[in-house]
Amino acid sequence: MSSAVINRLDYQEPAFRVENINLVFNLDPVTTTVYNTMRIEPLTDSDHDLVLNGSELELASVFENGSPLSTERYTVTPEALIIRGIRQKTTITIYNKFHPQANTLLSGIYMSNGNFMSQCESEGFRRITYFPDHPDMLTRFHVEIRADKEQYPILLSNGNLIEQGDLDNGRHFAIWEDPSLKPCYLFALVAGKLVKREEVYKLANGKDCLLQVWVEPQNADKTEHTMECIKRAIHWDETRWGLEYDLDRFMLVATDDFNFGAMENKGLNIFNTRYVLATPKMATDLDYFNIESVVGHEYFHNWTGDRVTLRDWFQLTLKEGLTVFRDQEFSRDMLGKSAVIKRIMDVRALRSRQFPEDAGPMAHPIRPESYRQINNFYTMTVYEKGAEIYRMLQTMLGKEGFKKGLSLYIERNDGRAATCEDFINAMAEANGRDLKQFFLWYSQAGTPRVQVKTYWDPEASTYTIVASQSTPATPGQPVKHPFVIPIAVGLVDSEGHDIPLQLEGETAPLGTTRVLELKDEENEWTFVNVGSRPVPSLLRDFSAPVILDYAYTRDELAFLARNDADPFNRWDAMNRLMLGVLEDMTDVIEMGGKPEADHNLLSSFEQILTDETLTPAFRAITLQLPAENLIGEPRAVIDPDAIRKARTELKAAIGRRYSSLLFKLAESYETPGDYSPDSESAGRRSLKNLAYDYLITGGNPKALIALRGQFEKANNLTDKLAALTSVVNSASPAKTNMLVEAAKEWQGNPILINKWLTVQASAGTQPGEADTLTRVRQLMDCGAFSIKNPNNVYALILAFCNNEPEFHRKDGKGYEFWLQILRELCSVNEYVAARVARTLDHWKRYTPDRAQMMYRVLNEAKHIPGLPVGVQEILDKSLG
Ligand code: ARG
Ligand code: ZN
Repeated sequence: MSSAVINRLDYQEPAFRVENINLVFNLDPVTTTVYNTMRIEPLTDSDHDLVLNGSELELASVFENGSPLSTERYTVTPEALIIRGIRQKTTITIYNKFHPQANTLLSGIYMSNGNFMSQCESEGFRRITYFPDHPDMLTRFHVEIRADKEQYPILLSNGNLIEQGDLDNGRHFAIWEDPSLKPCYLFALVAGKLVKREEVYKLANGKDCLLQVWVEPQNADKTEHTMECIKRAIHWDETRWGLEYDLDRFMLVATDDFNFGAMENKGLNIFNTRYVLATPKMATDLDYFNIESVVGHEYFHNWTGDRVTLRDWFQLTLKEGLTVFRDQEFSRDMLGKSAVIKRIMDVRALRSRQFPEDAGPMAHPIRPESYRQINNFYTMTVYEKGAEIYRMLQTMLGKEGFKKGLSLYIERNDGRAATCEDFINAMAEANGRDLKQFFLWYSQAGTPRVQVKTYWDPEASTYTIVASQSTPATPGQPVKHPFVIPIAVGLVDSEGHDIPLQLEGETAPLGTTRVLELKDEENEWTFVNVGSRPVPSLLRDFSAPVILDYAYTRDELAFLARNDADPFNRWDAMNRLMLGVLEDMTDVIEMGGKPEADHNLLSSFEQILTDETLTPAFRAITLQLPAENLIGEPRAVIDPDAIRKARTELKAAIGRRYSSLLFKLAESYETPGDYSPDSESAGRRSLKNLAYDYLITGGNPKALIALRGQFEKANNLTDKLAALTSVVNSASPAKTNMLVEAAKEWQGNPILINKWLTVQASAGTQPGEADTLTRVRQLMDCGAFSIKNPNNVYALILAFCNNEPEFHRKDGKGYEFWLQILRELCSVNEYVAARVARTLDHWKRYTPDRAQMMYRVLNEAKHIPGLPVGVQEILDKSLG
């Protein structure tokens, strides 16, 4: 792996085209051999060398038009095979080997529970064979897989199955041909003992499409939900965007060993099992919901990613931001009347994970300018902030306008490798709009702050909104230009009704929500016929990824929480109210005082809790306290102990104060009968479990009894896991038995065991118990944990690193643990190592004693022998 910095502006058009590639694999876990025949065509007259990337490959021989290539014509380096003197169309044949079983990076072709799996995005194909491994190198793939028939009865690759049959020595073969032009990062190969669920589905165009979900035999009964999700995704893409599936079959394969969530390989998506397998006893409501969105996401990539692909990896947000936007819209449409819940969850994730990234040492625009390891840029910024950029366009251009722009973009770029400019140009042209300034969202990092001031003039009956923007400097970008920021605004009168909105100069009111475009450092708008002072509802539905500063009083927030016609802003008002109170309480704790819960907050809590006009799902999500890192974010210095204490105290205060109300509610929201993950039942469960959680935090013994009963009797994982989590986070010794029970029931199911690990890694340390770090260390040796399995590492180690007070313990033992794990991971899987490395990138934000200790281990980490560049990149930026 080269350690050089790659710059976006250094992009060069390819000098060669690969007309087609023919691959023959002889699969063997120890050493797999590949015959790779490519038809190569030079594209320029100049004397370019053909650079074929290759990593950790053994080269056996090279042929040109059937004859051995003389050794003067080529050079082999650890990173490439360079061939000189190709002046005309030439057939190059390469015979090489690689070692699947030794592949713990899980990039290229590797083994998972005895099966061959592949992952090529971003640069995994070069770990399979020599090839120009860049996303703009589109070619046609013809693939023959040969393997032992008994060990590997199922042989899969992209496209159509052309032929299969037996060979000598108990081996067999299958030939796959993909009619589509694709870059090699979308190549996939799977071989092993797998079983399928399959169905023939009629596409909107009348064609039959074969849908298959492949899993290991023990999981055969857990794929029904996934199949349903595939059909919903196909149908939604047809109806919402007019985009149809283009192959005769669509396959999805699940594996336990996977670095990421899932991968959109053409016609053969490969998924982490956690986004495939679902039964009532092994998946929560949220898991069911997430499976739908990930299945949608990968399927939607077929157009936004596969048919239209990327020119280079800097354009990543062109497929990822756009496809996240598409999957968000899909999930929202599937929720029907609870749609806002999805928006709330997405914004919550953006604020708690992307905003800090944008404010820290790793801040980068959604289209970065440079990288050392591209894998470090599969970030919340590229994905989730990217999605917000597409959403803003839809908000500004309208759904129809956005759809027109997307159609034009696809029509123009189908079968091509595109850039972000191609997308914006299509949007601009289809809508007759100048989007030059809007394009700054692609190049400027940092979260803009929008400050709003309002003036009501009773004499003139006018209401003026003045909005100004400023964006803090980020690494490498000291000065920012003003963005185009769509601010959706409503004005709520004292009765709680929206006022019809008429801007100065307009002849009549037009609607009750208006999208104001803030374009300069400061802009103002005046509404007329505003006879009484309204409360402004700003940034409705979170119309832009910004931090909104408006000096709401707590009374106004409580008012909006009860009345705003925009359900997102109702949630947001309550959230702001809770955050403000938690900030105050944390201040008091830091000063050594005893904090008290705010009365305004308590009464709003009660009102929402008992408001039967609101869905249970909405009440549950609105009454959840903000996460600890959101409480920490605005603070000058983060003290995780004080924050947890404040949050727990507030929870306990609410639990005590409303105990009978919460109890009644918890009992009345039982979901009797068979389990169903539909949004209404899920909402009832989440409100019930929220109520119990407040109660048990308030020390209510009846809640403990109820939760133990729920844990024993639940017919679904949502209730069972909620009960376990609440009890584990309480002081009750009952947790020990419950954890043993859960382990007995869940052993042998990796997804459930991972949840079991996470519950423990995320728990606080109660007086008299072993501390969480000690338990995490024990769990690493419990037999259910392997550092080679990314899901295990995420479930135990990353969960612990996100457990703020336990990880950031004052004695620095959490940081020593971090260093030890990082060291181990560097030699096993550098991608997973880089994710763990990132958990210290905000070290400067913490109390000085902690910051100093983090600084020390970050520096020590730089001396890890064989430190991978990707990890080095994170450490350098964190320290820089
Ligand atoms: N494209 C995959 C997705 O849809 C993720 C691939 C992640 N690859 C990586 N090198 N980080 O989200
Ligand atoms: Zn994606």
